[in-house]
Amino acid sequence: MKVAITGGSGFLGRRLAAAHLQRGDEVRLLSRSRKDGPGDGGRWFQGDLSADGNLRAFVDGVDVLYHCAGELRDESRMQALHVDGTRRLIEAASGRIGRWVQLSSVGVYGARGAVSVTEETPLNPANHYERTKADSDRLVLAAAASQALPLVILRPSIVFGPGMPNRSLHQLAGMIRRRLFFFIGPPGASANYVPVDNVIDALLACGEHPAAPGKVYNLSAWTTMENFVAALAGAMAVPVPALRLPLLPMKLLAAVAERVPGSPLSRARVEALSSRTRFPDDKIRRELGFQHRLGLEEALGQMFSAGKTP
Ligand SMILES: NC(=O)c1ccc[n+]([C@@H]2O[C@H](COP(=O)([O-])OP(=O)(O)OC[C@H]3O[C@@H](n4cnc5c(N)ncnc54)[C@H](OP(=O)(O)O)[C@@H]3O)[C@@H](O)[C@H]2O)c1
Repeated sequence: MKVAITGGSGFLGRRLAAAHLQRGDEVRLLSRSRKDGPGDGGRWFQGDLSADGNLRAFVDGVDVLYHCAGELRDESRMQALHVDGTRRLIEAASGRIGRWVQLSSVGVYGARGAVSVTEETPLNPANHYERTKADSDRLVLAAAASQALPLVILRPSIVFGPGMPNRSLHQLAGMIRRRLFFFIGPPGASANYVPVDNVIDALLACGEHPAAPGKVYNLSAWTTMENFVAALAGAMAVPVPALRLPLLPMKLLAAVAERVPGSPLSRARVEALSSRTRFPDDKIRRELGFQHRLGLEEALGQMFSAGKTP
């Protein structure tokens, strides 16, 4: 099997590449900084999706193209990469690949409030990252419809594991370790995280399963915030926090506190700790036989147990 991976040097892409290499597959990897040629068991193609360049050699003739390149922090780069870059990749790949696997995000639903978000929930992105990821999905969906590009979209929640670029889990762990953490609002808020190894399994299923083309799949190892915080505290061998503060005063306080540079309290953080939104992943389990290989306790233990500094 031949595969091509954009974002092949990233947190998710490099693990996906390793999984394919372990199976004996031919792996092509795109990066802005690596020189053309062999390396790490795959073949690197130097290329910037945000700029014009030749992507044909990278994609030509692969069975699966995984589009994993993404920008999670710098808003000024998101439109050029997620939208213009996806358009360039579609132009290069149309008619030349067996299947496109799009690594999207549950962020595209922009869902807020106590709802169960499924693959049928309309997109309602709220911030620039979510909007540009949603536009990227719309582009590949349109290409799939008009140019018969076999497409699978995977939308994970927050992916965690050693080397994760998103710092929010480390900050949460730091608050628990320093005994500064408190729950916000009534019990039962949602923790929408998923271990990176499970996401790689899901990507492989999206790339290989005959029933996957034409489908969108959400992926999240949902649990309550209480369970997640207890698992995190357990992994670090520190006491499980018990303090709980009411939601409305915390929202008001956060609106003021976030104006102070460096404040740990913000409306976004209050929302993240009190949201009751869920992203059930029954569809990928039912249709592709996917199962979460690692449980949250085990995955958090691998990352945060004593002596480990992720
Ligand atoms: N991490 C999460 O929690 C999470 C959750 C849901 C969805 N996702 C999605 O998963 C994807 C991968 O995320 P990640 O966490 O692995 O990110 P990451 O570690 O920051 O990796 C980003 C990758 O994108 C590549 N890239 C960035 N700009 C590029 C450009 N202009 N041209 C070509 N390649 C470019 C980088 O390659 P070079 O620097 O080598 O060029 C790098 O390999 C993203 O699309 C993200 O939206 C992530």
